[in-house]
Amino acid sequence: MAGVWAGENVGAACSPSPAGPELRQAVLAEALTGLRAEPKTLEPWLFYDAEGSRLFERITALPEYYLTRTERALFERLAPELASRVGRATLVELGAGTAAKTGVLLREFARRQRGVLYQPVDVSASALEEAAEALTREIAWLQVQPQVSNYVTEPYEVERPAGMQVLALYIGSSIGNFSPELQVGILRNLRRQLRAGEKLLLGLDMAPDARKTVAQLVAAYDDAAGVTAEFNRNVLVRLNRELGAEFAVERFRHVARWNAAASRMEMHLESAVPQTVTIAGECFSFAAGETIHTENSYKFTQAQVDELLLAAGFALEERWADEAHAYSVVLAQAV
Ligand code: AVI
Repeated sequence: MAGVWAGENVGAACSPSPAGPELRQAVLAEALTGLRAEPKTLEPWLFYDAEGSRLFERITALPEYYLTRTERALFERLAPELASRVGRATLVELGAGTAAKTGVLLREFARRQRGVLYQPVDVSASALEEAAEALTREIAWLQVQPQVSNYVTEPYEVERPAGMQVLALYIGSSIGNFSPELQVGILRNLRRQLRAGEKLLLGLDMAPDARKTVAQLVAAYDDAAGVTAEFNRNVLVRLNRELGAEFAVERFRHVARWNAAASRMEMHLESAVPQTVTIAGECFSFAAGETIHTENSYKFTQAQVDELLLAAGFALEERWADEAHAYSVVLAQAV
């Protein structure tokens, strides 16, 4: 998959994240490329307009979407041990968004070291603003230094105050939304910013096994209240609004399916009827049952996590999981 955040050029110097007319151009280019492809695709970054971000926040609170609350519970359990293992540190977070769960960890570091520099990196300036505002209001001794960057295709800086280790965070199983090649690329890029011995805390959703069923996984991406369906279809609403496209949104069905061979959840939008849609004067035909592939969400075995870390220049130090082994948080060391 090609795209603004899924380019091949991990680590290459690029222009800053697009905004305004540039963003519209990026959305148009992505939509045309994806819909001309066979099978049709739309890149997942297109989900996250203001409404998509709001819908994602709602997803994280759904009973079926165990990922967020399981990770938060793990953080509450591991925060003291993590802080002891890491020592005095500055925390850098890739894809921080509004940093809703990071507060659990930051509070622990701030309590111990009286003065924590938190460096969230995200493509969304508004999410970073919200994070900085909420966290500094709530946590004493915290300094937030946000950085607007698309960490996949653009460079970002890591500051290391004197006497501090860097603890890098990449949580929420965000890594699962990238292809295996890009997963390695993102972590390698991060590794280059670290000194040997500095640590990475990675949150990952696990593949189904004897304790975690495929049905549980599918329900997390096809909830009873239909919030994920709305999130998925919102990409078409966005293309209608921003590009003047004419998708009849209600004629696309939300499909969430487990792809066992690739170890990933997939989301698609399936055309319920034969139809055509015009975007920027170009006509796209859909057969009944034809799909647009909108997202992959890779799920990991422990062996795959070990392999990924090794390929990116990290060594596993500690692994935490919930009782059902549905979700895992790993601490790794740069080698
Ligand atoms: C952001 N990302 C980790 C979510 C996931 O689970 O892959 C996005 C999402 N898609 C559907 N529900 C949530």
